[in-house]
Amino acid sequence: SAISCSKRVLWHQTQILSIVYLVNKNSRKFSDDVFNRALDSNVKEKSKPVTSFYNQSAIDAAAAKPSLRITPTTILYAGKNPDGSHILRSAQYLHKELPVRIAHRIQGFRGLPFIVGCHPTLIKVHEMYIRAFLLLSQFPHIRDLEIEEQYSKLLHNLLDDFRDVMILMAEGFAECRKHIKDEDMIRQFLDRTLTSRLSIRLLCEHHLSLRDEKPNHVGIINVNFSPRKLIEKTATFVKEMSEAKYGVTPDVRVVGHINATFPYIAPPLEYIITELLKNAIRATVEAYINNTGNIPDVVVTIANNEVDFIIRISDRGGGIDHCIIDQIWDYNFTTSRATVDDRVDGGLFGEITSPSHMSGSKAGRMHGYGFGLPASRAYAEYLGGSISLETMQGIGTDVYLRLRHIDGRHESFRI
Ligand code: ADP
Ligand code: COI
Repeated sequence: SAISCSKRVLWHQTQILSIVYLVNKNSRKFSDDVFNRALDSNVKEKSKPVTSFYNQSAIDAAAAKPSLRITPTTILYAGKNPDGSHILRSAQYLHKELPVRIAHRIQGFRGLPFIVGCHPTLIKVHEMYIRAFLLLSQFPHIRDLEIEEQYSKLLHNLLDDFRDVMILMAEGFAECRKHIKDEDMIRQFLDRTLTSRLSIRLLCEHHLSLRDEKPNHVGIINVNFSPRKLIEKTATFVKEMSEAKYGVTPDVRVVGHINATFPYIAPPLEYIITELLKNAIRATVEAYINNTGNIPDVVVTIANNEVDFIIRISDRGGGIDHCIIDQIWDYNFTTSRATVDDRVDGGLFGEITSPSHMSGSKAGRMHGYGFGLPASRAYAEYLGGSISLETMQGIGTDVYLRLRHIDGRHESFRI
């Protein structure tokens, strides 16, 4: 397979070289094509090989620029204008910013060790980024709201095309990481790629929701965010998964500052809470599979204060064995396929899914790739917070998620 892998890369390189030649020869036609394609709302020709648009020097030039990160406060207090000029400005910012951020991601893929970088699934993701880079960087200047609308359609389609990137990466790494010893390198790559991807998606979603004018929202910021509501929504979703899979589920009880509301950005939090609840519920079901009449609740406690808010998820699922505790934060570490009891194969709970992720997508049919804890931690740290875990072997586990407020009274993160 190593031979077929390097053959594939050689084939790619040859293809790229011939394409670069063609592109240079026809550069005028090339940009017209991209222009037309970008203006065409049906930009989804996923089957076309991206290498046919490869433009190395443009990617290098963009990758050399730093990204311009904004604070949620800037978003929260940015003015709204009835003539839509705030939407135009937002699109113009993205027009400059997205190619830079995507070029950084492409550079990340290029820096991967050969044996990893040439995995077919990872090549596919790498190519998706190159295609997105070209579509976005060749998009014409956004001088009015008509062009802005086309740009927004392009963003919408790209967000959709990239929906399953985390799953693809989890699959790709699950298959090729056995060839590499350097765990830190993988962690650094995945932490950076996943958090940068989160920021790119948040920026795009923010822009798209600026146009929607959802009640209680300024773009992606929910000004009346209720942690209890989010926890209840994700709990319902995960409990239904558990019911469907095992016929049983623990209940999820929410206590503490249940009436707290404040401005926050829900999507990354929804991902984290879903992953943590899946772990807690799966552990509880596994521990009580022969005693389903007595399944203990998973208890979620909310604490809110001036500086931050804390969410603790406590389960009585038996805790995490001493012998694996050092590995649970490694990407791709999972016990979901280790059990022989087919009632508790962890299948559903290894999936990378969340209620919003499911809607409108067939995505997320994925078995335990062990991305839940490490990706949640990367997200939490990116949001200026932390996740820590305490386990009592033989009893259960407490996970603490701690996040800072974004209302501008204290230092927060940048998107
Ligand atoms: P996955 O859920 O796909 O296995 P995670 O990164 O979320 O990946 O978790 C890694 C491993 O950590 C799990 O397979 C499980 O063995 C262990 N684990 C995580 N949370 C808990 C918990 N609350 N109770 C018991 N074990 C847990
Ligand atoms: C991603 O989801 O990974 C993205 O970067 C999406 C972007 C190309 C719009």
